[in-house]
Amino acid sequence: MAHPAHSAYDEPQTPDEISRRTFMANAVIVMSGVIGVGLAIPIIGGLIPSGAATTGTWSPLTKAEFGDLEKATSTPVKMTFSMMTKDAYLPEESFEDYVWGIKVDPTKFRADRPDIFNGPNGKADVPYHVVNMSFVIFSPLCPHLGCRYNWDASANKFVCPCHGSVYSFDGAHLAGPAPRGLDPLPMREQNGTAQIMWIRYASTTPDRIVISYKA
Ligand code: FES
Repeated sequence: MAHPAHSAYDEPQTPDEISRRTFMANAVIVMSGVIGVGLAIPIIGGLIPSGAATTGTWSPLTKAEFGDLEKATSTPVKMTFSMMTKDAYLPEESFEDYVWGIKVDPTKFRADRPDIFNGPNGKADVPYHVVNMSFVIFSPLCPHLGCRYNWDASANKFVCPCHGSVYSFDGAHLAGPAPRGLDPLPMREQNGTAQIMWIRYASTTPDRIVISYKA
């Protein structure tokens, strides 16, 4: 019996169709690869700080609050600063944040913070002076998961409300799930003004790993 004429589409096993299918399959694999790479680049890019974010900027601390720190003895001082920040296509903007400052005995501070001074010959694990003019500035972010901790004057300790990490006046980790003590930030004096540099360190790691110079 005569069969009606078939196109290659109707007869999947013809050599023409096999080669067409192979071509289509290869094309799909190549396109998937292209799309995958296209998606991977922004994802990977999001994990790496952008060029603009790999250097920090110095921000002045409020004069009055720094004056309080100069007078302080055993009480930490919460100090605000204004930081300029800029994302690729957005206009530069400034925002206010705060850090904690303490006045320390440098020798005691070194002894209390082995998690910072853990390099050869007691070198700090950060590339800047941690103690400046007997002051130490702490990032306000808890090294556990980044919540903001507070100073509990009655306990004489820093306490994080999120999961209960506790730190001494010197920022040493005393209790709770945090993997290290409080993170010190760079500070310098410039034209009579104290300035700090914001650095965000990775949470949950015992080591201090920079993830951003922006809030
Ligand atoms: S974020 Fe501070 S204890 Fe978890």
